[in-house]
Amino acid sequence: MTTNSAKILLIEDDTRTAMSLEKMLLSEGYAVTVSHRGDEGFARAQSEHFEVVITDLRLPGIDGLELVRRLHVAKPRLPLVLMTAFGTTETVIEATKRGAFEYLIKPFEMEDLLEVTAKAAASGRLMSEPVDLGEAGAVGEAIVGNSRVMQEVCKAIGRVAAKPVAVLLRGETGTGKELVARAIYQHSTRADKPLIAVNCAAIPESLLESELFGHERGAFTGAESRRIGRFEQADGGTLFLDEIGDLSAFTQAKLLRVLQEKCIQRVGGKETIPVDARIIAATHRDLEDAIRERQFREDLFYRLSSFVIPLPPLRDRLEDIPDLARYFLRRFARELELSSAAIQPDATAWLQQQPWPGNVRQLANVIRQALLLARDFPISVNNLKAVTAKKTDASALSDRSLTAFVDEFLDAARQGTLADAHAAVIEAVERQLFARVIELAQGNQAKAARWLNVSRQTMREKLTHFGLRTPGASAGGKGSA
Ligand SMILES: Nc1ncnc2c1ncn2[C@@H]1O[C@H](COP(=O)(O)OP(=O)(O)OP(=O)(O)O)[C@@H](O)[C@H]1O
Ligand SMILES: [Mg+2]
Repeated sequence: MTTNSAKILLIEDDTRTAMSLEKMLLSEGYAVTVSHRGDEGFARAQSEHFEVVITDLRLPGIDGLELVRRLHVAKPRLPLVLMTAFGTTETVIEATKRGAFEYLIKPFEMEDLLEVTAKAAASGRLMSEPVDLGEAGAVGEAIVGNSRVMQEVCKAIGRVAAKPVAVLLRGETGTGKELVARAIYQHSTRADKPLIAVNCAAIPESLLESELFGHERGAFTGAESRRIGRFEQADGGTLFLDEIGDLSAFTQAKLLRVLQEKCIQRVGGKETIPVDARIIAATHRDLEDAIRERQFREDLFYRLSSFVIPLPPLRDRLEDIPDLARYFLRRFARELELSSAAIQPDATAWLQQQPWPGNVRQLANVIRQALLLARDFPISVNNLKAVTAKKTDASALSDRSLTAFVDEFLDAARQGTLADAHAAVIEAVERQLFARVIELAQGNQAKAARWLNVSRQTMREKLTHFGLRTPGASAGGKGSA
């Protein structure tokens, strides 16, 4: 489950560098194999199982670039990271074109190495870990659920996977959008080509354009060399655009053009580069709402939604919970190396009575924690109550009502019905604060301002803003200046 236990092949001829990189990766929990030659590294990568290959450029035997080229052909789903000295930017570009997932320019910070490695491992997992359809007894990952709505989902995956059309996955957080994206990819005719994922919400707006489309040298401050974007990397393969509802108007326009013309232009570039990538997009937002509020382009929506798969929230398919519970018990028992894992029938029934705003992800987390608590005994209702209650205690704000209060806003934000949750929460808290303080100060604004350590000016403004200046106790109130 965790990417940090991934198996890494490190190919680096300099023994001291190899040792320090190995040490760093080991300390993060990776399993590391070191090879000092290009040809030997290539042979090992072919015959053994690795989740990521990190290779130096200059190597005895075959060089890193050739290694990337050959390995990408032999194992297109294996993420390759190239380490290269500064001043070899042409090589880097060449390497990304030949299939390197990422590169690191030496000297690099260990942080960068770890970040790139984690990203590569996650990407490899996305491509390689098979997802079974509708298999409650699955050993590996599976889309579990026999409810009518989930049967529809599995049917839809089967129908669309092999077709060359864009797919839009819609559903609340934790409903399995990423899981379904992987299943579609794996059942597609492009399963032997890379799957490149971009989380549009996780990348700052200023960097997203370059991440997607690449850039030319000097395109903007800091663009020291050309960069191949994710679209180009996904050429011939599949591009998973996650959190598509969060794109800015600018990126939406650019994306629309790319989808229409099937060509990209790198930022700051004039060349038009044909790109053939199958698009799978996902969002938790209500795009129709976003279109009405002019936050999402209707034309882009139609481009992306030639085939839509809606993923039902867990509360609409509570009958799947027993299957899901059994499935997660089996998975976690194996992961945690427990000899047995079971759940009492009334505990399963209790699970079926919960609202599950975090959907399957939340259910999985609760089962995992309950399993740790129950140890060798079947999970009981009390175990479940303990772990769900503990969550609240463990949060910095131990007040349950405050957690519930914040959750209400966050739920709306995640469902896309609230655009600015931060502002809304602050506003609501402030309103309550000023209403209460002026009540306790019996309308004395000076006193209230002193208690809050704000100026009287601020106090007046806030009271006006929240409409709290009642005639009797307001501007003329006793202590007010
Ligand atoms: N039907 C299912 N069967 C088994 N596991 C599932 C199912 N749906 C979701 N999961 C598991 O729940 C977790 C969350 O799923 P996933 O990451 O695909 O959700 P998501 O819709 O992409 O959520 P978000 O919007 O927060 O990114 C994953 O561990 C996934 O394997
Ligand atoms: Mg997701």
